[in-house]
Amino acid sequence: MTLRLVVLISGKGSNLGAIADAIDEGRCDAKIALVVSDRPDAAGLELARERGIETETLPFKKGMDREAYSAELAEIVALGAPELVVLAGFMRVLGTSFIQRFAGRMINIHPSLLPSFRGADGVGDALDAGVKISGCTVHLVDEGVDTGKILAQAAVPVLPSDDRASLHARIQRAEHRLLPEIIHAIANAKMRLDGGLLSRPIIDEDACIISPRFSP
Ligand code: GRF
Repeated sequence: MTLRLVVLISGKGSNLGAIADAIDEGRCDAKIALVVSDRPDAAGLELARERGIETETLPFKKGMDREAYSAELAEIVALGAPELVVLAGFMRVLGTSFIQRFAGRMINIHPSLLPSFRGADGVGDALDAGVKISGCTVHLVDEGVDTGKILAQAAVPVLPSDDRASLHARIQRAEHRLLPEIIHAIANAKMRLDGGLLSRPIIDEDACIISPRFSP
């Protein structure tokens, strides 16, 4: 089944691009009906327009309350008639009414192995904590910040030479594989939106990342 998506962004939109590439290459059975940004200068909007995808922006105005903003945003998102709402780098916390309206059909990609390092700087917080393995998580969105049911994760090593930018770049390469794959799994009823699996996943049970490793 081709899953109808509305994708919310705030920034460069590399995950949006990864979904669009996967759709074009037949690796993700979905259609991006609409891209919505809270920032009119988000580079991802241009990326969407170049691909002929409809875009909308709703800038957050100073003094506006979160619920009022979210209610307006929900109306815009509903215009795309989404079967799945994808938060792909949308940096605003959504109000309760928005979350309830799209509950059970809204996912987020977060740049850490949740439940570690929730919040706006998952990459920096992981570096500061000195973890040796980090990664990314696709999760269902609930009313908390990055607290929803975990659907899938990918791990990447943290290298001794890493700074925020290099670690984020490595995590993003994992995000660009994981997010379209999970959307495809949902579209093809291999994964339910409560995280339940309807098909046998391909998992190497002995796969293990040891980080760091030392040369002999
Ligand atoms: C991603 O790293 C995602 O995990 C986080 O925001 C970033 C968005 O990147 N939520 P992009 O705009 O998709 O390049």
